[in-house]
Amino acid sequence: MHRVADLVADYVENVQRYPVTPKTRPGDLRRQLPAAPPEVGEPVERVLDDYRRLIELHTTHWNHPGFMAYFAVTGSGPGILGEALAAALNVNAMLWRTGPAQTELEEHACDWYRQMLGLPPAFRGHINDTASMSTLLAIAAARERTTGLDVRRRGMAGRPDLPPLTVYCSDQAHSSIDKAAITLGFGLENLRRIESDSQYRMKVDALEAAIAADKAAGRRPVAVVATVGTTSTTSVDPVREIAAIAQRENLWLHVDGAYALAAAICPEFRGQMEGLELADSIVTNPHKWLFVPMDCSVLFVREPEVLRRAFSVIPDYLTTTETGVTNLMDYGVQLGRRFRALKLWMVIRAFGVQGLQERIRYHCALARQFAAWIETQAGLELAAPVPFSTVCFRAVPDLPPEEQDRFNERLLAEINAAGPVFLSHTKLRGRYVLRLAIGNLRTTVEHVGQAQELIRSAHERLRREYAVKKRLGRKRV
Ligand SMILES: Cc1ncc(COP(=O)(O)O)c(C=O)c1O
Repeated sequence: MHRVADLVADYVENVQRYPVTPKTRPGDLRRQLPAAPPEVGEPVERVLDDYRRLIELHTTHWNHPGFMAYFAVTGSGPGILGEALAAALNVNAMLWRTGPAQTELEEHACDWYRQMLGLPPAFRGHINDTASMSTLLAIAAARERTTGLDVRRRGMAGRPDLPPLTVYCSDQAHSSIDKAAITLGFGLENLRRIESDSQYRMKVDALEAAIAADKAAGRRPVAVVATVGTTSTTSVDPVREIAAIAQRENLWLHVDGAYALAAAICPEFRGQMEGLELADSIVTNPHKWLFVPMDCSVLFVREPEVLRRAFSVIPDYLTTTETGVTNLMDYGVQLGRRFRALKLWMVIRAFGVQGLQERIRYHCALARQFAAWIETQAGLELAAPVPFSTVCFRAVPDLPPEEQDRFNERLLAEINAAGPVFLSHTKLRGRYVLRLAIGNLRTTVEHVGQAQELIRSAHERLRREYAVKKRLGRKRV
């Protein structure tokens, strides 16, 4: 255990020695592992040697300050300690009785986080593994609250009395909403992806029209999902306006703030998220932008009783005599529960609210600085506004659209091949776009500068290559 403590500390301190993504090809790791398990135990020392030699080496280093792909995350020191201590306790907090400290700390840490976000006391937090699970539970709760369905008891199949149930989100919403629609039996056909505006925010008039059309066709609208910080561009749907429609139509409003909601701990970011307090449920992932190691997603629900009604099943062997306590197993699909609250609590305490605010502000400042740099570069442009710490940009060479996409794909590949940084891509209105996301605690202005230099030189190389190709092409003609 002492050696592991050293391994952890050395890794976190020296992760920059590695390229962010390994040179691993598919199958490389498995080829080096014995096909069958060992018959007799091996010394853990030897296993740790292999951990360093094989596992660390073939890892994509999400904890690397040059990791700027997808949404960058951080396993911070206090978070890693919380994770380790939780493993040592190895508690299964399915009931209050089976994990009193774990249950109460989950309630308490979630309530601290609620206060930090400026949400009203009515919201009760519940920790899940991921935002995908939190959203699934929220939409299940929406279905449970919808009157006249009785899905918990009767199911959805073979019921002529049950109209198709519909859910609404924007065309920028995360695929976890699709998965919830699949898993809960709504069907993808009944998930309406509402058009977004030029800044990738849900168009409210299009939402109203879709609901009206569905009602006229005999379908039953159940829930609407507004996103605060969409996956591609981090755009923010107009929550207050969507909430007004949800209220009028008696729909459950779920807010997906998996990444960007953390920014609401800084009061200056709350203006663009107005209306959060009107949601029925909100998901935000401390494992995305609150420096808590994977995995930790908080689902805030205004009527936890509805969630309980949707999921509580108490077999004889799990009855207990305590009253007035929370039994976490009642609020979701899973029975057994990891002690995720410990790392959240430790991170909040070790950084303090101000410390967390400073880091989020710093990340946003780095992103603004990077965006401003893009705007000074000939042949590069911003592809979307930058409300938080993620920047979408692309090269705009004088080429037909498909070739422009190919140029950008190659640009990304060249930047990433260098090793010190890792960026990702998305598509906006069908066009290939690069994304630089800042979210790692150890990312500094130097790392962003390094990314800029790699972007600049790769862009320059490609431009020269394409210019030569064009000249040769002309000569051939
Ligand atoms: C807006 C949004 N919602 C949900 C998710 C899914 O998150 P998770 O991996 O926690 O399920 C993501 C992932 O990036 C996301 O960007």
